[in-house]
Amino acid sequence: MIDVLLGLQWGDEGKGKIVDYLAAGYDIIARFQGGPNAGHTLYVQGNKVVLHTIPSGVFHPHCLNLIGNGVVIDPVTLHREIEAIQPLQPDVLDRLFLSHRAHLIIPTHRALDAASEAAKGKEKIGSTLKGIGPAYMDKTGRNGLRVGDILSPNFLEKYNALKAKHLDLLSHYESPVSWEEFEAPFFDAVEKLRQLKIINAEYWIDEQLKSGKKILAEGAQGSMLDIDFGTYPFVTSSNTIAGGVCSGLGVAPSAVGEVYGISKAYCTRVGGGPFPTELEDETGDALRKAGAEFGATTGRPRRCGWIDLVALRYAVMLSGVTRLILTKADVMDNFDPVKLATAYRIDGQITREFPYDVCDAAIEPEYHEFPGWSKPIGSCKSYEELPEVFTQYCNFIESYLQTKIAFVSNGTGRDQLLQMP
Ligand code: GDP
Ligand code: IMO
Ligand code: MG
Repeated sequence: MIDVLLGLQWGDEGKGKIVDYLAAGYDIIARFQGGPNAGHTLYVQGNKVVLHTIPSGVFHPHCLNLIGNGVVIDPVTLHREIEAIQPLQPDVLDRLFLSHRAHLIIPTHRALDAASEAAKGKEKIGSTLKGIGPAYMDKTGRNGLRVGDILSPNFLEKYNALKAKHLDLLSHYESPVSWEEFEAPFFDAVEKLRQLKIINAEYWIDEQLKSGKKILAEGAQGSMLDIDFGTYPFVTSSNTIAGGVCSGLGVAPSAVGEVYGISKAYCTRVGGGPFPTELEDETGDALRKAGAEFGATTGRPRRCGWIDLVALRYAVMLSGVTRLILTKADVMDNFDPVKLATAYRIDGQITREFPYDVCDAAIEPEYHEFPGWSKPIGSCKSYEELPEVFTQYCNFIESYLQTKIAFVSNGTGRDQLLQMP
């Protein structure tokens, strides 16, 4: 069986920490979409590590780690990451596998990302500028370069043809963007990429599953950034929901088992786009401070707001979530009241459905309130120690989403995780 773990909000739900914990029970961790726009934070022997492309099972010596066909890879970022991991985990390369079919991000993809965002002005997506959108555009436009291409004798020819297309596109933008200085490091990194374990990953996964191995598919971004179901066009360029696992790894839907969905006890978003429960006031500032909400990839301050059960119910439905994980519950320790959005008021009508038009419609969330908890969650070591009002709050979420909360995370450490009954 292959289990799935994904974010249910706009990313940064704490996926890295939870995968690092759950990896103890899996043989393989596999990324199936996204690329270096992701920033998954783990704490390993007291060191903070941010992973962008490498799966978050890398710090478990028994775990193999696969970068699947649905991922877009920037060779330079990947090698920087490997170099950061090696002192802590010297065997990282022995346990890292790449699909032939994953697409490459080349320097001009990043330049196109920057030029496109600059041209959008106020309407910009707030992209991480890692070249994600342009790389997926080339994939679906059937122009892309794949990892397998670096093993081909005519790789340079293919690269130059793609670069020429990009330079033509770039000439239509007003603001010039430099890319030249990134070409030499790119080719150095491609050389190193050739030494890695590049495999026919779909056959490899099939063999692993047939021999009874347990695989966890690690999502990047979040369900509300999904290219089809997110707050389009303020989304990323891949399917972040559970459906992305089948196409992003080459596994059949019947192989999928548990679907872990992660949500913070509040909500954040980084970059532009609609955010119905956003708090642009002191409460929002207090959440940002208490949750240290600054981007793991770009360092940008994250926008903060109350947990949005309308959006969460939508995300749970889209991915068939079987187990919820509520993270950063400790961040709410000093808030009173604690609010949850349970419906939207749009043009005087109340709805519990996430609407098609979220960008232009005026959405007013309706809230349910709980009083603050009587003692800090951060110091609780088991379910039994949790304050009653917090367990009532969890029951409310479970009942609204019709899904069990399996774990509550109450701190950054691997073991700061409470198993729920
Ligand atoms: P990801 O992209 O989903 O892996 O999440 P990020 O790593 O971008 O952001 C989550 C941040 O919250 C990281 O700095 C984590 O160390 C931190 N974090 C994760 N779980 C908890 C928690 O339960 N409590 C607190 N206080 N911090 C947490
Ligand atoms: P993890 O995996 C939060 C956001 C960007 C921008 C939009 C499009 O760490 O949760 P892109 O670079 O994909 O063109 O950006 O998506 N975004 C993320 N926000 N966490 C992420 O990843 C994100 N990856 C992309 O801020 O709004
Ligand atoms: Mg992140």
